[in-house]
Amino acid sequence: MTICGRACRTPEKPRFQAFRVARLFPCGCAVHALRKPRKSTVSEPILSEFWMTYVVTEACIKCKYTDCVEVCPVDCFYEGENMLVIHPDECIDCGVCEPECPADAIKPDTEPGLEKWLEVNTEYAKSWPNITQKKEQPPDAKDFEGMEGKFEKYFSKEPGTGD
Ligand code: SF4
Ligand code: F3S
Repeated sequence: MTICGRACRTPEKPRFQAFRVARLFPCGCAVHALRKPRKSTVSEPILSEFWMTYVVTEACIKCKYTDCVEVCPVDCFYEGENMLVIHPDECIDCGVCEPECPADAIKPDTEPGLEKWLEVNTEYAKSWPNITQKKEQPPDAKDFEGMEGKFEKYFSKEPGTGD
């Protein structure tokens, strides 16, 4: 696997090895090839079937532990008033944030039923501020862990404060 020397701390996933998508990008690095570039030399329809992202889901609402932001190699978390989202175009699908979340709120968008959360992540990553450093969790975070229906009751469109 070629390493371009930037944020490539993640092993290439076996399912991508056959495609050699990396050859189509100037840096030649598989990890960065999987990052969705805004100006690609390859048309989006060709690559989109290989692209995926992780998304933050309902379990984050009112918990917001922020352990996840510390491990993201590309700093693609954005902060709302009471939850975070992942920017789908910036996430390189490394998966390291998923086990870090105490509330089990981070999922790959390939899991069924997460379309709504892909929309929420896509929409609010555009306007909420970037967050890369862990913050103190809300004092009542534990009370909201595992609760259902949090989106309807508590979701806020308001931005957080970011870093
Ligand atoms: Fe960041 Fe998680 Fe995406 Fe990896 S999977 S790039 S840690 S948001
Ligand atoms: Fe939310 Fe889990 Fe991160 S609760 S802030 S996705 S660590």
